[in-house]
Amino acid sequence: MVASRIGVLGQGLRPLGEPLLRGDDLGVLHGDGLFETMHLRDGRPWLRLEHLARLRAGAVAVELPLPPDADLVELLDDVAAGWPAEVEGALRLVCTRGPEGGGEPTVYATLAEVPAAARQARRDGVRVATLALGVPAQARPDLDWLPTGMKSTSYGASTAARRWAARAGVDDVLWVSSDGYVLEGPTANVVWLDGDTLCTVPARRTGILPGTTVAWLLAHAAEVGCAADERMVTPAGLRAADGVWLASSVRGAVVVRSLDGAPLPVSARTGAVQELLGFPLP
Ligand SMILES: Cc1ncc(COP(=O)(O)O)c(C=O)c1O
Repeated sequence: MVASRIGVLGQGLRPLGEPLLRGDDLGVLHGDGLFETMHLRDGRPWLRLEHLARLRAGAVAVELPLPPDADLVELLDDVAAGWPAEVEGALRLVCTRGPEGGGEPTVYATLAEVPAAARQARRDGVRVATLALGVPAQARPDLDWLPTGMKSTSYGASTAARRWAARAGVDDVLWVSSDGYVLEGPTANVVWLDGDTLCTVPARRTGILPGTTVAWLLAHAAEVGCAADERMVTPAGLRAADGVWLASSVRGAVVVRSLDGAPLPVSARTGAVQELLGFPLP
């Protein structure tokens, strides 16, 4: 995504080419920060409350002092003001720990048009491969020193997985634990249909990111005639499902067309699910 607007807390919009971060910002040095990416539709960030709540929960977990929500909302409003309603945006809010040695967190927001490839994936679906994560599914939440479930700016594993996907000739990956459970993708949760039940992986038990998109979808599952459930699942379980999607704030619900080269069925409910989520199709 190429940002076309950047704003800084308390300063409003800033020229795009102007430096914003100090070289010793801990977000840069250690990936020590949190972020949220919201879908800007009709000029407004969808699920803003839910994103701010997740950010705040993550900030508590990593002891990152955040400005009040009202200030964050004002920053988001400044950056989104006047954005054309018909252009889908990806509105990113970033909060790092700030300069090394102490100081205020660095808080800024970027706004970019949703990339054409992300919109196209809603129509075409994606080919996905499983990728070993090397840890048992429930190992991380059991460690009382390790915060889990927050959207950290430390995305090294995600970008490595993306590079691996490109080399493997697939569009995306799903991480699989050493005990054989599918967890999540580098930027998406997995959703599958088992009969009339829309399912996803339990975030608390596994330490994966509790996705805002999947949470909203499952909370509204009845509107597409489905029940909702959180379950553990294996790759074989996904292959036996009636439909599988990746869910995220920028792409919405994207059909997983194949898993490790094996074609998956496309659920007849796909249109209804996508319509419910309200992400435009290209
Ligand atoms: C690791 C991971 N899981 C899941 C998601 C989906 O979360 P959301 O629906 O809140 O965008 C993301 C989003 O970027 C993510 O990075």
